[in-house]
Amino acid sequence: MSTIIYAHRGASKLAPENTMPAFELAYKHGADGIETDVQLTKDNIPILIHDEQLNRTTNGNGFVKDITYDELKQLDAGSWKSYHYKDTKIPTLDDLLAWNQDKQIKLNIELKNNIISYQGLEDIVCQKLGEYNMAEQTVISSFNHDSITRINDKKINIDYALLTGRRNKALIPYSKKIKAKGIHISYRLLSNRLVALANDNKLYVAVYTVNSSIAINKAIHLGCHALFTDIPKLAIDIKKRRFAERN
Ligand code: G3P
Ligand code: MG
Repeated sequence: MSTIIYAHRGASKLAPENTMPAFELAYKHGADGIETDVQLTKDNIPILIHDEQLNRTTNGNGFVKDITYDELKQLDAGSWKSYHYKDTKIPTLDDLLAWNQDKQIKLNIELKNNIISYQGLEDIVCQKLGEYNMAEQTVISSFNHDSITRINDKKINIDYALLTGRRNKALIPYSKKIKAKGIHISYRLLSNRLVALANDNKLYVAVYTVNSSIAINKAIHLGCHALFTDIPKLAIDIKKRRFAERN
């Protein structure tokens, strides 16, 4: 099994995170998949942005939940990163799914509903994945474990995983109980022991966010199912080199 390389918010070291240029660059650099964060506008449009507020990554202010999609479309989500990306828009989930139709790379849709609960977010995202016939290559994750539990309760046919940055003894039994496919953990929690324990319980381990050669090599060496990196080119190159050395 080879570790899946997800571009974290796209190729976000070089391009503005969670934008189409960042996704394009990740694809160009050979990433196996894209991780992105989804939230809802005031009029319930699923859009791709990490923060609950607009100020860090756009020229707007206030909360995503308080702005309509028409208002959001006016914002510049690229200039904060570089003038080169001036007037880049915040993409919708539809934009990403439509773009991926002819590429079919893997997706990790992170429901960003751990601070604001966004009623109905699970249904909206799952419906979109169905519309674009893209459930099969997608895994849904969230730090909000109640949200992931709701997906299990609805018996929707989609893979999902629990996200955590905290040590938690109940994580593995709970993941098993709600039939998660895996656990997405912070790099600082990664250990041989945890990977073995998860795998013994038929759960995969994916690790975020690994941007150094040492961390990427460790994740691959420990047999992580996937890793999330802002620099997919680095991880892909490391994976290729390891493969070449083995053969
Ligand atoms: O899904 C992995 C990772 O993205 C979780 O943390 O804050 O970067 O969304 P964050
Ligand atoms: Mg994320």
